[in-house]
Amino acid sequence: MIERELKFTLRVFANKNELSKEDGILLDTAKNAIKDAYAPYSKFRVAAAVLLENGKIITGTNQENAAFPVGICAEGTALSACSALYPDVAMKKIAITIKSGTHVVTHPVAPCGVCRQRLLEYETRFNTNIEIILMGEEGEVYAVNSVRDILPLSFSNTDL
Ligand code: THU
Repeated sequence: MIERELKFTLRVFANKNELSKEDGILLDTAKNAIKDAYAPYSKFRVAAAVLLENGKIITGTNQENAAFPVGICAEGTALSACSALYPDVAMKKIAITIKSGTHVVTHPVAPCGVCRQRLLEYETRFNTNIEIILMGEEGEVYAVNSVRDILPLSFSNTDL
């Protein structure tokens, strides 16, 4: 038996002012989209802003439903909007942020497993990597170079 250590690099910024101009704009766009979330049940608003290779920014927010499992994550609505509006354009980056109705979240919140899988499909589809930028309501910002970093041993089209 051997043990293999899997590593990834997490870039940690003290706050959003440390980001590049491009990343700061993307995160601010996500923050501005939080108002569009429909989260009457969880009171947990999530917003994503995608920067496409053509320079367009597309946003998405969580859209809940009284039948709880029917709700869609912010990343899911953003990715669906991207593939509906620009089906042939790769994604460069995605910024994801949140706002809780009950407390101030001071740590970055990472995408759920299903949304990591959705991001992986986008990466494999366009054979590119998508940078992921994460922030809570305030505090540190995390960035990773690819969804593969936070979805190790993933299942993708190469397994079929
Ligand atoms: N949510 C997202 O929008 N993205 C995630 O990656 C995790 C969770 C939403 C789903 C639900 O509307 C609310 O957050 C609470 O789970």
